[in-house]
Amino acid sequence: MTTLAAADRWRDHLARWVIPDHILAAAPGNPHTFSVRRFSDLAADARRQPPTVTHRRAVERLPAGGSVLDVGCGGGAGSLPLAGRAGRLIGADESRGMLDAFATAARDLDVDVDVLEGAWPAAAPRAPVADVVVCLHVIYNVADLVPFVQQLTDHAHHRVVLEFPTRHPLEWLRPYWRHVHGIDRPDGPTDADALEVLDDLGLAPAHERWQRPNSLAGADREDQITFICQRLAVGDERRGEITELVARFGVPGERPVITAWWDVD
Ligand SMILES: C[S@@+](CC[C@H](N)C(=O)[O-])C[C@H]1O[C@@H](n2cnc3c(N)ncnc32)[C@H](O)[C@@H]1O
Repeated sequence: MTTLAAADRWRDHLARWVIPDHILAAAPGNPHTFSVRRFSDLAADARRQPPTVTHRRAVERLPAGGSVLDVGCGGGAGSLPLAGRAGRLIGADESRGMLDAFATAARDLDVDVDVLEGAWPAAAPRAPVADVVVCLHVIYNVADLVPFVQQLTDHAHHRVVLEFPTRHPLEWLRPYWRHVHGIDRPDGPTDADALEVLDDLGLAPAHERWQRPNSLAGADREDQITFICQRLAVGDERRGEITELVARFGVPGERPVITAWWDVD
């Protein structure tokens, strides 16, 4: 375990996001799971939209016919849009369901596709080195950022591109938590903490902040309520109350995100 101050702060901040035992014990399901359908839809949208900052930075160092390793690939929003230039995509994820969706979506693309099941960085020894490594919207799930990032770097021939929200992805639910459970959720860590970890590692990443549409804002109201109930660890009997809270507190239409990238050759 690392002793870097910024990395310790990152871990401490994330530890405060743990859901209290009494709330977890009463939860009808796992409040932390990701919806395969939602992330498949996001990947399909990403293929229809113009390239994002993240995709443009990846393409800059991706040779024609080169390889992309997408860590925490979900449905593939990070790498499927690169298929026009890449010759090989490798999706790595701890969720079998996400990998199946990724592989299915990639089937009609003119590209070789591999998947690797397992949590990064434990799964890293089984992963190939790729021209470019991308990792989108994963790091707020990762308490120990140093080995995670070191293994991303070790698996890139040319560049690593990371994308993540500037604030914790569930921070917007703070007023909901206060109302429903009477507790304050943390307001960190932030992108500044993550950048400090990357700086401490000597990676000196370039970065750019930009606004990404929030896919949840475009979802229908019932799906929004389902998502919020799940994350708040409450059951369907609270849907009416959550519906009122959505009218009051809203769902952000956009999310500020940051793309950070560094070259390894
Ligand atoms: C918020 S989703 C993002 C998916 C995709 N990258 C995107 O931007 O649409 C996070 C994904 O990372 C995966 N994940 C989280 N922690 C992981 C880890 N340590 N190793 C591998 N996959 C992980 C989850 O299973 C999920 O598919």
